[in-house]
Amino acid sequence: MKFVLSGVKPTGIPTLGNYLGALKNFVRLQNSMKDYEFLIFVADLHAITTYQKPEELKEHIRTVAALYLACGLDLDNLTLFIQSEVHEHVELGYVMQSVAYMGELERMTQYKDKMQKQVQGVTSALFTYPALMAADILLYNATYVPVGDDQVQHLELTRDLATRFNSRYGETFVVPQVLVQKTASRIMDLQNPTRKMDKSAENPKGCIFLTEPLDQIRKKIKAAVTDNDGIVRYDVENKPGISNLMSIYASITEMTFQQIEEKYHECGYGIFKSDLAELVVTEIDKVQKEYDYWINSSELDQILNEGKARASMFARSNMRKIYEKMGLKR
Ligand code: TYM
Repeated sequence: MKFVLSGVKPTGIPTLGNYLGALKNFVRLQNSMKDYEFLIFVADLHAITTYQKPEELKEHIRTVAALYLACGLDLDNLTLFIQSEVHEHVELGYVMQSVAYMGELERMTQYKDKMQKQVQGVTSALFTYPALMAADILLYNATYVPVGDDQVQHLELTRDLATRFNSRYGETFVVPQVLVQKTASRIMDLQNPTRKMDKSAENPKGCIFLTEPLDQIRKKIKAAVTDNDGIVRYDVENKPGISNLMSIYASITEMTFQQIEEKYHECGYGIFKSDLAELVVTEIDKVQKEYDYWINSSELDQILNEGKARASMFARSNMRKIYEKMGLKR
């Protein structure tokens, strides 16, 4: 059995960044990798590394699960589950903490960023988060892990931990490979295009949430920060706003930046933004219609129950082997 594995953290409503950088990509990969099983999960234990109100967390877990299906994942080669329902993630997470060094965890940029912003109240779980993420992947010996750009460093650490474990205890883990797309691996905030679009952003104007009203989405795109020269040209350094909008455009249409530049040559930003707004709205409208079905459906619970049973079966058997290698067995 060969696996592709990935997860989304239910810290809020998933964004257009999550959709283009991850969810839509899972669907695309699933279509072209029919001989792989896709293990896709709701990373709820990762969410609690920062405080979540219990009733909101519960809602967001279900929202993320329903959105996975709404985006078009194919049930034929899918195991969809909730991380906390497969307790081996926590067990292997602890084992990975015993393999990871403090210095490695301290170098993680996501941790450093949060540390800077929060100053007080940074939890120890936030610090050890990458060890849990490594466990999520290694528990199933996943071959490929599709993620956005911001998770690449965590994947590199996962590879290092797998290699270290294998050399200490003998060949145990598959060293996973990261899959990052070219165009949509880092969608930026519409109001501050030097920061990534993030579901827990303080200013919701820069962020498109997958379940928000379509009219609001149109408005946010039209109000996106650009520059004054009015030329649709891809240049991340000097024109981060327009370049970000072009990445969104390119990801949805699969056009190249050059084709987009030619199409909007001498058009100005107004027309480009309205066209982009319609493209995004058409795309999200399809997702929302499907979402309305899944969120209220008992079929969702059935899929999650089956996913839990199947993921647990793999996890249990691998965890036993891992403990044995380490001498944790009578
Ligand atoms: P999370 O929930 O922050 O993001 C989920 C996925 O969306 C991608 N992403 C983006 N892609 C493009 N542009 C953006 N602005 C953007 N924001 C987010 C992320 O790169 C990710 O692929 N730690 C992970 C969840 C996780 C996981 C795992 C992923 C836990 N265990 C094991 C893969 C394998 C996270 O917080 O993702």
